[in-house]
Amino acid sequence: MDVAAIQRDLDRRRPGTSRYVSAREERDRVEILSGLLDGRTTGAPIAMIVKNESARPEDYESLKELFRPGHADYGVYKRYGIRDHRGGGRLSGRETVARVAAGSLAKQMLGSAGIEVSGFVRQIGNARAESVDLEYARKSELQCPDPEAEVEMKRIIEEAVAARDSVGGIVEVRATGVPAGLGDPVFMKLDAQIAWGCMSIGGVKGVEIGDGFALAGMRGSEANDQFKDGFALETNRCGGIIGGISVGSPIVVRLAVKPTPSIGQPQRMARIDGSVVEDAIGGRHDPCLCPRVAVVAEAMVAIVLMDAWLRRSSDPFGFKDR
Ligand SMILES: Cc1cc2nc3c(=O)[nH]c(=O)nc-3n(C[C@H](O)[C@H](O)[C@H](O)COP(=O)(O)O)c2cc1C
Repeated sequence: MDVAAIQRDLDRRRPGTSRYVSAREERDRVEILSGLLDGRTTGAPIAMIVKNESARPEDYESLKELFRPGHADYGVYKRYGIRDHRGGGRLSGRETVARVAAGSLAKQMLGSAGIEVSGFVRQIGNARAESVDLEYARKSELQCPDPEAEVEMKRIIEEAVAARDSVGGIVEVRATGVPAGLGDPVFMKLDAQIAWGCMSIGGVKGVEIGDGFALAGMRGSEANDQFKDGFALETNRCGGIIGGISVGSPIVVRLAVKPTPSIGQPQRMARIDGSVVEDAIGGRHDPCLCPRVAVVAEAMVAIVLMDAWLRRSSDPFGFKDR
């Protein structure tokens, strides 16, 4: 187990790294509590901890009795009758640090079978990455794979920040080297599991596999991926999955990410007594969630693929060549 690789993924997700993400100064250092001896897993459960070092609950004091637009505040209050207003809880993007640590480990296991999973930012506002250089994306402040589009994306975020506003965008995850025959039919369909995993990330409001929503406007003759040279497909409109089972082409997933709900402009919020007040939200927020969601989505797709792999390995039919 490569702990440094886990730390590298946590560093890609953490806030405070540039002016395009939240200014919270979290170091996000991972400590391994169990399951590891001299760099090798022992078979005992692997426990990792990442401490919150820059929590500022006082930033949230004024929100105690307010329900913010775009946030889960009202629904949570109706669900539990009590709401922790202090930030950093399980409704905050903070919880995704655990997903990235587990996903990084899943990526190591998948990597040993030749499967690579990469998340990147495809679009912010209307600036779209037209080329995909994954090496570049890994080092980019925005996790953007296209240096030209990145300039425009930065401008769009800066404009939003100047207007005390936020922007959304599209995150893409690709998994290459996935063999045909991974996944299950009916309820555990691989695409259904991926959609579930990705939709569970805060701020994600849409998930598509392959050409997704664009397929709705095509004819069958255009939408079908035809075979060439044996089982390889000419196109990949299906995004690597048909009938819930992988077909051997790259798995392609896109996530629609909403603009960050906390903005510095005055907005109409509800009070606990039902009155509506106009106020602005303080705190250190991400002006655009996409660069951080890209790393989390990569982790979620890796976790889903690893689960599918484990289900397949424990299947008496295993990975026999057919
Ligand atoms: C990595 C990450 C960071 C986030 N940072 C913020 C933030 O700084 N401010 C904010 O208002 N929302 C942030 N969110 C989004 C909220 O968690 C999310 O929008 C909110 O819980 C409402 O849920 P929903 O948008 O999924 O419906 C973040 C989400 C993630 C995944």
